[in-house]
Amino acid sequence: MIRVKSAICMGIHAFPVDIEVDTGGGIPQLILVGLPDASVKESRERVRTAIKNSGYQLSQEKITINLAPAELKKEGAAFDLPIALGILACHGLVPAEKLCEFIFLGELALDGTLRPLRGVVAITSSFKGKSFVLPAESSSEAAIVKDATVYPVKNLKETVAFLCGEANIQSVPKRAVSSKPAAGSAVDFSEVKGQRAAKRAIEIAIAGGHKILFLGPPGSGKTMLARRIPTILPPMDFEEALEVTKIHSVAGLTFPNGSLLRERPFRSPHYTSSSVALTGGGADPRPGEISLAHHGVLFLDEFPEFRRDALEALRGPLEDGSVTVSRAKMQVTYPAQFLLVAAMNPCPCGHLSDPRRGCRCSLGQIHKYRSKVSGPILDRIDIQIEVPALSFQTLAAREIPEASSTIRERVCACRATQKKRFRMRPYQINALMNPKDIKEHATPDLQGQKLVEAAMKELHLSARAYYKILKIARTISDLAGCEQVQSEHIAEAIQYRSLDRQWWS
Ligand SMILES: Nc1ncnc2c1ncn2[C@@H]1O[C@H](COP(=O)(O)OP(=O)(O)OP(=O)(O)O)[C@@H](O)[C@H]1O
Ligand SMILES: [Mg+2]
Ligand SMILES: [Zn+2]
Repeated sequence: MIRVKSAICMGIHAFPVDIEVDTGGGIPQLILVGLPDASVKESRERVRTAIKNSGYQLSQEKITINLAPAELKKEGAAFDLPIALGILACHGLVPAEKLCEFIFLGELALDGTLRPLRGVVAITSSFKGKSFVLPAESSSEAAIVKDATVYPVKNLKETVAFLCGEANIQSVPKRAVSSKPAAGSAVDFSEVKGQRAAKRAIEIAIAGGHKILFLGPPGSGKTMLARRIPTILPPMDFEEALEVTKIHSVAGLTFPNGSLLRERPFRSPHYTSSSVALTGGGADPRPGEISLAHHGVLFLDEFPEFRRDALEALRGPLEDGSVTVSRAKMQVTYPAQFLLVAAMNPCPCGHLSDPRRGCRCSLGQIHKYRSKVSGPILDRIDIQIEVPALSFQTLAAREIPEASSTIRERVCACRATQKKRFRMRPYQINALMNPKDIKEHATPDLQGQKLVEAAMKELHLSARAYYKILKIARTISDLAGCEQVQSEHIAEAIQYRSLDRQWWS
């Protein structure tokens, strides 16, 4: 019996799969055990044809192939290459001992060519110190992982030659991973005139990881502001970057010359997106927008226009920081720790809060529009900020607003403070504090405590809103470099919740 090593990716983790091939006895046929029915048939045809078209003759014998362990719900075509090699080894065309030295992956085209694979980074990073033989097109991506040795092959014939020592194939060379983010951005916060309050709120949101909603009339600059958020995001550390890269790799989104993704993701799906596109799913469950936004920002522009079921599907992930997608008997969990940024008009016509234009909507229309996002989702948003229409004077002002780089410096300093505070925790941002942490780190001074109490009564805030105020206040005091949360920080934090009653009741 011949044994070939391969692997399968579930979510962003990979598991070993052994492919056992045996020949002899019975009528001539190819039997595959351990794959779902549909995949078996397809894989068998591809492998058989690819072997024939690569110029190899198979004996007229029964060939039995078993994929172990049986409990893993294995799907996908990446086993074609190891299966073909196992069969060829049974015929003495490949040295059997070589098949345990590498982990083999690859889908075969009918002519024996190897097709690129999804998720190779997730696979190579799951097996420390191993060697891989996989499709050339996926090899530079696979080699991002430092202690993986990757041999790129173009087709079945070349793989056989390599294993027989007849072809000299070099492993993919390691490139130094640069720690600097790539080229600068084309946009900058200095282009946005006025909107001081909104910019301040964005700075707080990014610094502490608080979810934020912009409310304002058309053309006030909501989209413009959001599009500039990537310019102030702090850099990712290596572990974060690797995780983000794995998710993109599993989603089949390849990147220029297979380098690690260094920039925090900024995803802005259109409001027509389905709930599967947002949260993930499909035949072989793939990560959705919320997972692609992991460690970064998910921007939902025109928030109320999103499908109700799509927004509802965000509730769980917003709470858990991960999402589980299931299909048939397969269940896969993807990380989804993203910062939610949403934007909307205050009413269908958009001019409710604009004194110069006036609103033409009926009360019923306004209510219907808002009810699309009201309730549980809204309750999970930390900061609500109005983005008012700008006066001509502000737009025409000569003064150049603060540059993104300056804001980013403050954000980074604030993140560093939090990192130090939460060094023993699995999270490093204020927004993720649990009630115990809040009590320990965000209890305001006496005057501040009185202020929250009064706000709770007056604005009829929920318990969730109470904790949110304390967390936001913690970030505000971190930005100010204060050890303790003071009443002025509480006062500012309350402002970001003051829309609660006015808007949504
Ligand atoms: N504060 C500002 N400073 C400079 N230009 C601005 C500002 N606000 C808006 N603009 C200009 O107006 C355009 C429209 O802004 P933007 O698309 O961000 O509005 P919006 O609030 O998203 O509107 P809508 O509700 O219709 O989506 C911008 O592309 C920009 O040219
Ligand atoms: Mg807009
Ligand atoms: Zn209106």
